[in-house]
Amino acid sequence: MSPARKKIITTSRHGSCESADAIDRIIKGRFASRSFTGRTVPRQTITDILDVARFTPSGANIQPWRVYVVAGAKKRAISCALSKAHEEDRDEHSSEYQYYASSLPEPYASRRDEFGRLYYGSLGIDRSDAAARSRQTSKNYRFFGAPVGLIIAIDRRLAIGSWLDLGMFIQNVMIAAGARGLQTCPQETFAKYQALLRTLLPIPSEELIVCGMSIGFAEEATASAGSLMPRANIGEFAQFVDFED
Ligand SMILES: Cc1cc2nc3c(=O)[nH]c(=O)nc-3n(C[C@H](O)[C@H](O)[C@H](O)COP(=O)(O)O)c2cc1C
Repeated sequence: MSPARKKIITTSRHGSCESADAIDRIIKGRFASRSFTGRTVPRQTITDILDVARFTPSGANIQPWRVYVVAGAKKRAISCALSKAHEEDRDEHSSEYQYYASSLPEPYASRRDEFGRLYYGSLGIDRSDAAARSRQTSKNYRFFGAPVGLIIAIDRRLAIGSWLDLGMFIQNVMIAAGARGLQTCPQETFAKYQALLRTLLPIPSEELIVCGMSIGFAEEATASAGSLMPRANIGEFAQFVDFED
């Protein structure tokens, strides 16, 4: 083990109110940012974020994550191609996996409904206005103006357990970005244009594109508002059994 990692582990064993506060603040302060300033993010910052995220745990330590970091001309080419496809032939494209169940049971259907109400409501978009919703969706492909985009993939030969590992890795990227004053938006919308992305990035055929992510500095107005989305209370998802204080 490197001396630097040993020092971190020794320090973190003791814990402290300050470190709990700092981490809680970053987790609670993260939100799906859909409006970024043009301020650039240095390559070193993204390297530092990935350098932290690589410590994500994974079953049998197989570390299934694959990441393509794009900026500059390549990011512009991706935005251009995907925006055009979204406008001209979106029905010709499809993801290689199903993110949402075809029919959502409760309470998930109601939560999705509430998401739509809050999301489009905050943008002044009437939910029956398909053209306005489509224009908003299209902003995904421009990484919402962020200077850096990630395309995140997994080896298709792996099983569902490895997707747990990948999810944790994605969250760690977002937390490490948050610790550096950056915001992010994880984006499954990129999976739909996987065939097009393969023509633009060196993604081997055994890899399945899971999602994208925008990373940058959030616009001040959205940053101070934070997440629009409520969360269920602990009692709705956890049960304490035979737990003594
Ligand atoms: C795996 C994943 C994929 C997502 N895909 C998209 C997306 O394609 N476009 C988008 O605008 N938001 C996307 N989101 C953001 C969610 O809508 C958002 O996390 C959720 O509504 C909760 O809001 P919050 O993150 O601001 O707290 C995604 C989130 C996750 C975790």
